[in-house]
Amino acid sequence: MIVKEIELINYRSYSNNKFAFFDKGALITGRNGIGKTNLLEAVTYFSLGKSHKKLKDGDLIKFGENFFFIKIIFQCNGRDICVNAGYDRNNKKIIKVNDVLINKNSELLKYLKVVYFSPSDTDLIYGSPGVRRRFFDLAVSQTDFRYLEILKKYNQILKQRNALLRSEFNLSEKRVWDRRFAEKIYEISRMRKDYLADFNKLAVEKYSQVSGALEKIEISYKSAVPDEYKDSVKSVNEYIAAGEEKEIRYERSLVGVHLDDYFIRIDGIPAREFSSQGQARSIACALRLAQAELIFGIAGERPVLIFDDVMADLDKMRVNNLIKAILGKYQIFIASPDGDLYRDLNLNIINLENI
Ligand SMILES: Nc1ncnc2c1ncn2[C@@H]1O[C@H](COP(=O)(O)OP(=O)(O)O)[C@@H](O)[C@H]1O
Ligand SMILES: [Mg+2]
Repeated sequence: MIVKEIELINYRSYSNNKFAFFDKGALITGRNGIGKTNLLEAVTYFSLGKSHKKLKDGDLIKFGENFFFIKIIFQCNGRDICVNAGYDRNNKKIIKVNDVLINKNSELLKYLKVVYFSPSDTDLIYGSPGVRRRFFDLAVSQTDFRYLEILKKYNQILKQRNALLRSEFNLSEKRVWDRRFAEKIYEISRMRKDYLADFNKLAVEKYSQVSGALEKIEISYKSAVPDEYKDSVKSVNEYIAAGEEKEIRYERSLVGVHLDDYFIRIDGIPAREFSSQGQARSIACALRLAQAELIFGIAGERPVLIFDDVMADLDKMRVNNLIKAILGKYQIFIASPDGDLYRDLNLNIINLENI
């Protein structure tokens, strides 16, 4: 996957700018606050149809303006695809792929695949379960588009089931919802588990590449449904049935994949409690690299890699080794206020001070 050019009109700090990129990628430099992240996040916008930081579209409009319009051209499976997205304060958002309107933002996941290495990635280690679920949900969707649809259905069922539990209901009605709920729990937990099996192997390999350390990292899937109940929809349903009384008392769903978590350990020790900042950064990079490699392994196309100022707290020699290992395989974008750090990579330099 190669991003060829991007055009930004009234998007965040940009008024009207166009950038062209080489196959290898680019080094984006300029002082803090100049717009490096804004530019890279605009690229990412086209992989999701929305901000990956969950910002509202209205907040992406340049202050004082009424709309934004952004356009990208990238190569995917050997052909050029043009996507544009516009959002107007009065009208709805419009996204077109090769001039054809799309119905759902999520359709974009089929086209542009981006792996974004962000400074806040250490939240994957230190943060709440929700951060890890979001990471894996996106990662799985990038390899299997059906996953996102199933997850959406699951969330609808969860919402309706919770509404039911809060209302006056009869048990037979609840049990119809239980069965639907169990089906989706079964499907999603299986997909998460299968993904993780492949992911784990890669993450171990990438961690030693990034950190140079001999420790072994391991990610395990901590499902809200105990393993002995996960063999079939029927047994998931039995598990739900066993908790019926309690759920009726609490008036909400107390089981489900929305409560899942992923445990990360280094040499058997929980990373969340015991890893240093440097170790956490290395783990986060390893997770992102594993995400990228699985996209290639399963979807057959290498994603675009974006390193937004993440390598400052890694050992310089390692960073160079890491980047050299992927340079030329992936198109990579690096944002850093200090371009000198990466000069020997010979990436095309885009200095935002000069635009
Ligand atoms: N909607 C917006 N309109 C105008 N400026 C914005 C908007 N959103 C963010 N900015 C500005 O963008 C700047 C941050 O840009 P950023 O890309 O994060 O910089 P950096 O180069 O440090 O990564 C801030 O000065 C902020 O005020
Ligand atoms: Mg930034």
